[in-house]
Amino acid sequence: MSYLKAWRAAIVHCIADPKDVGIKAAYEYFEDGLLVIQDDKIHAIGEAADLLQTLPNNTPIEHYPDAVITPGFIDTHIHYPQTDMIGSYGEQLLTWLNTYTFPEESKFADKVHAREVADRFLKELLRNGTTTALVFGTVHKVSVDAFFEACEVHNLRMICGKVMMDRNAPDYLTDTPETSYLESKQLIETWHNKGRLHYAITPRFAPTSSDEQLQLAGKLLSEYDDVYMHTHLSENKDECAWVQDLFPESTNYLDVYDQHKLLSERSVFAHGIHLCDNEYHRLHETGSAISFCPTSNLFIGSGLFKLNKAEEHKVNVGLGTDIGGGTSFSMLQTMNEAYKVIQLQNENLNPIKSLYLSTLGGARALRLEDKIGNLTIGSEADFVILDKKATPLLTSRLALSKGIEETLFVFMTIGDDRAIQATYSAGQCVHQR
Ligand code: GUN
Ligand code: ZN
Repeated sequence: MSYLKAWRAAIVHCIADPKDVGIKAAYEYFEDGLLVIQDDKIHAIGEAADLLQTLPNNTPIEHYPDAVITPGFIDTHIHYPQTDMIGSYGEQLLTWLNTYTFPEESKFADKVHAREVADRFLKELLRNGTTTALVFGTVHKVSVDAFFEACEVHNLRMICGKVMMDRNAPDYLTDTPETSYLESKQLIETWHNKGRLHYAITPRFAPTSSDEQLQLAGKLLSEYDDVYMHTHLSENKDECAWVQDLFPESTNYLDVYDQHKLLSERSVFAHGIHLCDNEYHRLHETGSAISFCPTSNLFIGSGLFKLNKAEEHKVNVGLGTDIGGGTSFSMLQTMNEAYKVIQLQNENLNPIKSLYLSTLGGARALRLEDKIGNLTIGSEADFVILDKKATPLLTSRLALSKGIEETLFVFMTIGDDRAIQATYSAGQCVHQR
């Protein structure tokens, strides 16, 4: 049944990339705003004084005088099976994978375990205000079935895929080129575009796939118009050297994927820290995107992402948590660490740019900007309510704020899951603090 419902609060959302139009023209802000939803979509947005008089008398209105509404956050790179290994000590990428990650992922052969973790993972995303994510499963087909089944309960827009991995990993965690192709295809046929769900072909990274497997991944990508491709790229220096050894005929790391036809408008590469100009150029040319994962890049000591280089080459960029290499499910905390990564390169990450990266920029990286990422009329009603009085420190600090840009910056510096008062997906409340 069709119904209207409204939320009254400060509202801010990005309508463009600050790099294209400047900071002020990149966002809309309504100090005493009204967000009107019809069923699962945005019906109207504006100042409450203008919109209230247009609503039918019986329209339910929730009023939050101490809150800011933003679009739901979009996490462009995360591993749900690594939920329980967050905070694993003392290693960098390659030893971290062997010591902690592979043993943890082996548990997902059991669908009951996978579903239990998927439910907890989604709850954690929603209590942090994240409404869409591009998610790694494990090599086990059932890990993806369990994940998508859990997503259906909340009607979430989510993207996931089965890991393809046929070498340089323990036997208990490998598939073959043929089984990975067939199982991925079965998962696409079952889940891709079912409701709000999408499939991502997911070779883990170049070192754990043979040429044959990458070639079949490329074939699969060519067989479907709109499936995603999701992998890792150039995260760690030892990894990069290993890729050169394993694929001596490739001119650079990205070229391994390029030669196997894995670059596309729906290809998302996590990290991309140690790239040369040719690689940025090829990412741009093919419409591929990078997921910038600052908490992970710092925690496992990978390096500093060069946002200015990506921008110079007009590469699409989103933000990711990369749980469990990353240290927080909170996109607010991810923006906090992104700011510090950029500071270490003597530049400033403007809070509107951070908001862009975690909402509309993420949606653009995922080619979903016609559906999510901002609050324009007709968009899906995925949004969060940020509580300016969530903690004593937020309360006192935000009382001194001189405007929405400062308010956002404070939220993304000292805010976390406690600041998320409520999360809505397709107009339905999916988390209330
Ligand atoms: N590279 C290959 N696998 C992984 C993983 O699970 N996490 C991260 N951060 N990098 C990877
Ligand atoms: Zn990752």
